[in-house]
Amino acid sequence: MDWQNTYRERLSTAQEALAAVKSGDRVVVGHAAGAPTELLKALVAQKDRLRGVEMVHMLCLGDGGYLAEGMEQHFRFNGIFVGANNRKAVEENRGDYTPCFFHEFPSLFKKQLPVDVALVQVTRPNAEGFCSFGVSCDYTKPAAELAKIVIAEANDRMPFIGGDNLIHVSKLHHIVETSCPILELPLPKIGEVEKKLGEYCATLVEDGSTLQLGIGAIPDAVLMFLKDKKDLGVHSEMFSDGLIDLVEQGVVNGSQKSIHKGELVATFLMGSQRLYDFVNNNPQVKMHPVSHVNHPTVVMQNHKMVCINSCIEVDLMGQVASESIGLKQFSGVGGQVDFVRGASMAVDGKSIIAVPSTAAGGKVSRIVPFLAHGAAVSTSRNDVDYIVTEYGIASLKGKTLRQRAQSLIGIAHPDFRAGLAEEFERRFSSAPCAIGV
Ligand code: COA
Repeated sequence: MDWQNTYRERLSTAQEALAAVKSGDRVVVGHAAGAPTELLKALVAQKDRLRGVEMVHMLCLGDGGYLAEGMEQHFRFNGIFVGANNRKAVEENRGDYTPCFFHEFPSLFKKQLPVDVALVQVTRPNAEGFCSFGVSCDYTKPAAELAKIVIAEANDRMPFIGGDNLIHVSKLHHIVETSCPILELPLPKIGEVEKKLGEYCATLVEDGSTLQLGIGAIPDAVLMFLKDKKDLGVHSEMFSDGLIDLVEQGVVNGSQKSIHKGELVATFLMGSQRLYDFVNNNPQVKMHPVSHVNHPTVVMQNHKMVCINSCIEVDLMGQVASESIGLKQFSGVGGQVDFVRGASMAVDGKSIIAVPSTAAGGKVSRIVPFLAHGAAVSTSRNDVDYIVTEYGIASLKGKTLRQRAQSLIGIAHPDFRAGLAEEFERRFSSAPCAIGV
């Protein structure tokens, strides 16, 4: 049968397609801006016939009706990341969090968490009958390949992006055509602190570097200060709108990359419609599963690999807590350690944790003597490399515990330096703290 007939045969309404989901199934949901919002709405509408459906995903833009109070009889959330729409459910124990490095999610679905149903969003098929996973390849494509049943929302507004990001219509068991705008992320507000952080980080980026940047104001602030660099490349978990100007100005051209030369490589994308228009059918942009993009042994192949991520707090030994505020699971490790390790192993690589020196409106220092009770260490003191605040850069690799503490106190907010210096004296009493407080 030609693919056009297969496609037509498998078309149905969301309501019909979701009859394939049974009580007790494990359902993996497409990631971030690739979340299949129409399918999710239709699934919630069928809640009364369902008990104990395990909903697994990382970020999921949209309101996530299955996470509302009272839904837990029908749907149990198992987060491989915690984000805006599910944080409350996890905090109230109506949902769970499973710790795992991002690059390992596909292996999790192969071994420990077999997938009954994948709910994904794709483009309409191309002339050969292949749909693109568009803005979310990450674990979404591997989950679809491993699932017993794939239900796909074929959205004609999803950008078509190549790379290892395609699936043939014959692999989609149920197809629901939609025409919905891709969910957008509000543009971050870049304040003075972020600008200073961006400026310091940019001093660590040499011409010819390959970059990984996370989401939000700090990565976008870094990009603002890279305009005078040359021949930068991108091999990143994700990228957003902030990158477009640098590509159009020729600052980012990928010419010095060691692998995927000339290409903008990512595993997912999130931003505004401007980003989605930029990546649509753009031959320079290539998406690959997270098991490839984030794998430290792949990341390390880029010479001058620089990764820039953020955190919640850092203790005086350089232990980095990036995902929990004390016992409260705030986000997840995501790809932070994947890139920290990859960049550390790369020739002339650098890993940077860029963080404002304070949180909660200046009331708490993010450089602390001890991590908050119950906090998870995301990047260990053995992996950490550079910590940057708006007060400067602490280079920790190869430094003793005493030297680390001294450098970190030097980039803490001045209001907190005296308290940190007291802890320094307690720990290293025969060596007075050299930082002026
Ligand atoms: N003590 C108390 N509260 C703290 C705190 C601390 N040490 N650190 C942060 N907070 C609070 C902030 O005040 C803020 O609260 P508010 O929203 O009420 O103002 C909230 O926690 C979020 O902090 P903020 O620093 O603004 O978060 P962010 O959106 O910049 O994200 C991380 C920072 C660390 C959570 C995020 O980068 C992350 O999840 N990292 C891990 C994953 C990762 O690195 N992935 C790789 C690339 S995508």
